[in-house]
Amino acid sequence: MQKYIIRGGRPLSGEVHISGAKNAAVAIIPAALLVDGVCRIENIPQISDVSVLLKILQQLGANIRFLNRSDVEIDCTHIHTTHVPQGLAHKLRASYYLIGALLGRFGHAEVSMPGGCSFGGVRPIDQHVKGFAAMGAEVHEGDYIVANAAEGRMRGANVYLDVVSVGATMNIMMAAALADGVTVIENAAKEPHIVDLANFLNLMGANIKGAGTDTIRVFGVDSLHGGTYAIIPDQIEAGTYMAAVAAAGGEVLVRGIIPKHMDCITAKLLEMGVEVEEKDDTLLIRRTGPLLRTNIKTLPYPGFPTDMQPQLTAVLSLAQGTSVVTEGVWDNRYRYVGELTRMGAQIRVEGRTAIVEGVNRLTPATVQAFDLRAGAAMVIAALAAAGTSEILNVQYIERGYEDIIGKLRSLGADIESAEYSEQEPVVPRRIG
Ligand code: EPZ
Repeated sequence: MQKYIIRGGRPLSGEVHISGAKNAAVAIIPAALLVDGVCRIENIPQISDVSVLLKILQQLGANIRFLNRSDVEIDCTHIHTTHVPQGLAHKLRASYYLIGALLGRFGHAEVSMPGGCSFGGVRPIDQHVKGFAAMGAEVHEGDYIVANAAEGRMRGANVYLDVVSVGATMNIMMAAALADGVTVIENAAKEPHIVDLANFLNLMGANIKGAGTDTIRVFGVDSLHGGTYAIIPDQIEAGTYMAAVAAAGGEVLVRGIIPKHMDCITAKLLEMGVEVEEKDDTLLIRRTGPLLRTNIKTLPYPGFPTDMQPQLTAVLSLAQGTSVVTEGVWDNRYRYVGELTRMGAQIRVEGRTAIVEGVNRLTPATVQAFDLRAGAAMVIAALAAAGTSEILNVQYIERGYEDIIGKLRSLGADIESAEYSEQEPVVPRRIG
């Protein structure tokens, strides 16, 4: 097992370049299955979720060729099976996108139930299934999800989503791209990665209108051709580095972002007294004075992203005064709070709300990363806490952050990775 050792309490400075968006890449890679040809996908993040998905596509018969660190060619001309073996698919949530893509192109899919971050609550896929069924698929759920298009090809349909779901919106879009007829997705999610997927598919010959709004129309076409597409920068990775500067102090230039995507995060940091200067595809983040309390409610885009909630809560634990954080997307996303309170944070959770009483400083400790963003919050807290902290289970962090150690080191952080064995007793002690 890997852990991070962080000697915190020092401000960050320098520049960090943002990688391609995880939540776009993990949809666009399966979407390549819809293409009867070669896709060249650029700006792919080097994260474990991506490697797992590429391995799965190879198992299905795709030819994968890396052109360099972040550009890959995916040739799905010779897919020979629509059965996705359990092992890999269980490692991530986004394996559910293989269902939409395989159903869309081959009218059949057999994929094990998805895995990925468990926040402590359930993560249903009923809206995905509702969409597939409306388009004429029979769907059986067990250890595997087995879906069959009744007429061998999906047919256009109207689908009203009962909840604004990123995954269901993108999965139905994929299943509809090659369907017979028009599919209308209403109450659709509007996240930047949904627009990115639609742009990718349209470049390959699809006909999708309205992505980024709450009504998406997919005019089914007979086939998709190959092409070259570059993935958008990762809004959440950028937000995580901005939060790190807010917590540890300092001045950092975040490069390669789309400012519009960052508005919901920038607005909150400004309320907390952090300076943010936007220029072209960069944001200059500076925190020299005290952090101010504020309230946050997570919502679907363009609201404040739930995938930044743990990171900003870690920052607010150092703000002057009381902040109220409300989780508006997931039932329960506060499993990490216990770890933060062991670092001296004062946070009380009541249902979907966390009441954060700011403290002057956090103290170093050995803490667990319970999932991807909870892990990022631990890194942020450790960077702020003067002394040595250890973060266990960092494999969760590496599922979604490319080269986090290298990038933090380039900002002057003292961080290293080390091995440890699960047998090693985790002594809940304060270090430093
Ligand atoms: C995506 O998850 C992201 N994952 C999550 O990011 C993110 O937290 C989430 O969207 C919300 O923004 C990926 O893109 C791979 P949803 P997804 O369907 O698609 C309910 C990260 O850290 N719902 O938008 O699984 C659900 O319970 C990860 O990068 C249903 O009830 O989320 C939740 O309350 C963690 N039925 C809400 O909708 C369904 O069929 C939003 O879920 C689907 C969802």
